[in-house]
Amino acid sequence: MKRIITFGTYDLLHIGHIRLLERAAKLGNHLIVGVSSDELNMSKKDRAPVYSTQDRVEIIKALKCVNEVFVEESLEKKGEYIQKFNADILVMGDDWEGKFDEFKSLCDVVYLKRTDGISTTQLIGDISERL
Ligand code: CTP
Repeated sequence: MKRIITFGTYDLLHIGHIRLLERAAKLGNHLIVGVSSDELNMSKKDRAPVYSTQDRVEIIKALKCVNEVFVEESLEKKGEYIQKFNADILVMGDDWEGKFDEFKSLCDVVYLKRTDGISTTQLIGDISERL
């Protein structure tokens, strides 16, 4: 029984998100997703997400590869979340390659390749150009 944990904003859910979550789920039996709060996003990406925290949580909960969802309130608390949720593997996209190696003392750390050519930021740009 392996418990997987991963983190992200998951705003304007897209195919890159789905592929990441499905591959993460296959590494174990129970996938836990920390969805970053609106406040955390403001500090991290300098813009508010299009969808509210609650809507993003509800959308991620509805995916069949996801077992548990919580709100990530602070980037500094990753170690606490890993322990609280008893995670065996931390999964991150390879845009974070090497950045979470400090948690190897708590669990395995796996970086998965991102899907090329799509991101929420890019989608927002593409949509606004169509208006
Ligand atoms: N992800 C991915 N492939 C993409 C986009 C995202 O595998 N093309 C993964 C990220 O590596 C992360 C998770 O999906 O593990 C959530 O990423 P998030 O930052 O919410 O999505 P982005 O589309 O990267 O958002 P933004 O453009 O706002 O940075």
